[in-house]
Amino acid sequence: ESEGHVTDYKFPFEGVFGKYDQAQLQRGLQVYTEICAACHGLIYVPFRALSEPGGPSLSDDAMREYAASFEVFDEEIDDFRPAKPTDHYPAGTYPGAPDLSLMAKSRAGFHGPAGTGLNQLFKGIGGPEYITSYLLAFTDETKDEAGTIYYRNPVFSTGWSAMPPQLYGDDVEYADGTPATAEQAAKDVAAFLMWTAEPKLMARKEAGFISVMFLTVLTVLLYLTNKRLWAPYK
Ligand code: HEM
Repeated sequence: ESEGHVTDYKFPFEGVFGKYDQAQLQRGLQVYTEICAACHGLIYVPFRALSEPGGPSLSDDAMREYAASFEVFDEEIDDFRPAKPTDHYPAGTYPGAPDLSLMAKSRAGFHGPAGTGLNQLFKGIGGPEYITSYLLAFTDETKDEAGTIYYRNPVFSTGWSAMPPQLYGDDVEYADGTPATAEQAAKDVAAFLMWTAEPKLMARKEAGFISVMFLTVLTVLLYLTNKRLWAPYK
């Protein structure tokens, strides 16, 4: 792989008719929860979203139980308590670990050629592809700079990331039995992070599709009306 190369992984939510795959979002949720949540927060994501349609769609009970496994600070009681469905995920605590809520929309995987944006036009922005590639690009090289350890990662902007490598394969045991290779886990958590960044993607595509259908029918009707109106003057 060349320096900084982002692979064009395929995701089920790509394209005009693309949809989130509920099973994949649930696996990604599992990866986030068991691995990434140790350092990264998701402060823009309310727990109740996990049981809404178009997402991981947990049952209401499962979502409540899941929320309660997180502690949030409640100013009213001036103390921590188990999270409720209306609470958001807590912020990450690891120094320098960015919040992941919008990460899939704030990184671009594809560029060029030469600033034309053509690659983005054909392949998409590439946020989830970037996240997947980043997670899989770690080598085992490290360096120590003023007491901070950096890990070699050719996909990361500076080439050296303060985040230790996370995925080696079999890092989680999927509830749905899918073999948890590093690539599978990376794609699943990237898909989950696409959903956190754009939870209404499916509703948006559906509305777009209905609008285009409507406009197509309207165009045909207007064409026929026009012909009829002008017919006597030919
Ligand atoms: C940065 C994802 C686990 C610590 C990042 C970035 C992403 C990410 C997408 C941003 C890269 C960029 O700025 O372009 C994930 C995922 C994880 C995970 C999906 C779980 C599979 C962890 C863990 C830790 C951690 C467990 C702490 C031990 C950090 C730190 C940074 C970072 C410190 C900032 C790196 C820098 O700016 O040099 N992570 N991460 N991450 N992550 Fe993670």
